[in-house]
Amino acid sequence: MARLQIMDTTIRDGQQSLWATRMQLGEMLPILPKMDKVGYWAIEAWGGATFDTCLRFLDENPWERLRAINANTPNTPLSMLSRGQNLVGYKHYSRDIVFHFIEAAHRNGVEVFRVFDALNDIRNVVDNAEAIKGCGAHFEGAISYTISPVHTLDSFLEYGQQLKDLGADSIAIKDMAGMLTPYRTERMVKAFNAEIGLPVHIHCHYVGGMAPANIIKAAEAGAAIADTAHAPLAFGNSHPAVEMIAAAFQESRFDTGLDLDLLFEISEYWEEIRKRGHYKRGVSSLTHMQVYTHQVPGGMMSNLMSQLEIQHAVDRLPEVMVEIPKVRAEVGYPPLVTPLSQIVGTQAVFNVLTGKRWSVISKEMKDYICGFYGKAPGRMDPEIVAKVAGDSEILDPNIAPGSLVTTTYEEVAEEIGDLAHSEEDVLMYALFPNEARTYLSKHRTSEKVDFLLEQESSGTKEDDYVDINQIRELVKVAEESGVGEIVVEEEGVRIAVRMPGEGVPVAPVAAAVPQTQVAPAPQAVAPEPAAASASSRPATWYAVEAPMVGTYYEAPAPGEPPFVKVGDEVAAGETLCIVEAMKLMNEITAEEMGTVREVCLEDATPVEFGTVLFYIEPHETIPTVPEQA
Ligand code: CO
Repeated sequence: MARLQIMDTTIRDGQQSLWATRMQLGEMLPILPKMDKVGYWAIEAWGGATFDTCLRFLDENPWERLRAINANTPNTPLSMLSRGQNLVGYKHYSRDIVFHFIEAAHRNGVEVFRVFDALNDIRNVVDNAEAIKGCGAHFEGAISYTISPVHTLDSFLEYGQQLKDLGADSIAIKDMAGMLTPYRTERMVKAFNAEIGLPVHIHCHYVGGMAPANIIKAAEAGAAIADTAHAPLAFGNSHPAVEMIAAAFQESRFDTGLDLDLLFEISEYWEEIRKRGHYKRGVSSLTHMQVYTHQVPGGMMSNLMSQLEIQHAVDRLPEVMVEIPKVRAEVGYPPLVTPLSQIVGTQAVFNVLTGKRWSVISKEMKDYICGFYGKAPGRMDPEIVAKVAGDSEILDPNIAPGSLVTTTYEEVAEEIGDLAHSEEDVLMYALFPNEARTYLSKHRTSEKVDFLLEQESSGTKEDDYVDINQIRELVKVAEESGVGEIVVEEEGVRIAVRMPGEGVPVAPVAAAVPQTQVAPAPQAVAPEPAAASASSRPATWYAVEAPMVGTYYEAPAPGEPPFVKVGDEVAAGETLCIVEAMKLMNEITAEEMGTVREVCLEDATPVEFGTVLFYIEPHETIPTVPEQA
């Protein structure tokens, strides 16, 4: 079996790496019959970020997408990427949900399941593996490759053996950051062949351009399969181009046997789509190539840049780049892959922007440190653990984090009720409740009512129809929050719900109504506190300010009581509120012991850097020694 097999990643990882996962089903369908003729080992078509972008941005049913792709590729197995216990989401799901999801994915066309865990914690893979083996599909166990003092060849082999013990049919070496080099690859593939003995599948992002050399070395060392993408969706943060790899192996014993003319024909189609959609091509930028020294993956770099832009602090990037490896070492060297890349990157941003390391900590970082994501690969700094965890529970290392989630499929099905018409609908809701509810309501309800609609863009008023469920949702929010009017803007359309007999105070409802933007209330951003004017406020009170741009939340979750109210006594380090920024929930804590004197903002108010959130009267104003005259 010298011939190297190829898996195509164009319509999943390729577009996820270069087009922000915005490729639509309509763009894929016309070319799939030709791609089906290539002779790929598999086409990676589903999973990763495609599921939630379908719902969130593309108004597509991810299950219908899978079925449509499958119907157009009868000769080629389809593959998907599962994030282990997180499936295609960003948190752990229960064993029951995992089983239902894997079975449904298989039933709808997935033949090859590539499963990884960001921490290489086998406990987060067990349920996936059992479910996949149970339905007779191909289980590919993936190793998240990274470089650190605790990630040795032996540690990877040990994880490979654990995957084999779970029944893996093949092993993927997943180099998401482009950090593998030809000689590292060769050593790894040889060792895996010798000690694990399963087919090795090599997955190297192109980034700095080393991937083709890695694939050649991998083939020579006995790898069975390699990942590529069609040229218009290759290079840069994506994969090497299939045309390049097919040509490279010609006249060798690894010849892929793929027809170059056919490959180019397909690529011409993709080039058309790329141009039409104004999508960028993959390039190896200097910052991305510097992964060789700073080890920060390309996708994470782009995230950091946009985070810093939002925080008006792009000039702090060099400091953040120095901070990332420090944070990573302090928390036991997690591989920088979703979701750890965001968690570590954001912590580094906070540490730099606040000027006080570890003074602001996201809920996600706290959960990671307390063990709820899985076992850290290395030892964490005990001082950081003590500081971050505080009195919170640290998960018993013998308990698998996923086992704490016990929601059953039946419970979810009952919750979504009639809105779901199939098991697939229920699973959509189990994974992304808000997005799924919006999607399902929009596509299910034929019941429409006359409703006021203001077409603000044209400046004319006209009557139109608006989804009854959306209105019901708004009315519910208005009732629950006790406000008189709620205004929601969606794609330039303004929808207003006024409660009978109410005035018109407007409260932002962004958290309650997903997928819609709330028209900014006039006083929404950082209103001056009404309780006490600056002049009447004692000088001893200290202000707690927002350390970042984001959204202020008074409670841990909607509907729960606020963390604090006026008059509450707080201890130093006690959580006062959450500021959501960079998709993470960041707990803002009290600097010293005291009494909350003013709560300055309404719940869910957008805040700027430095917006005052609270005034606190410190308890012990230490008496100063009177100055000698
Ligand atoms: Co990848």
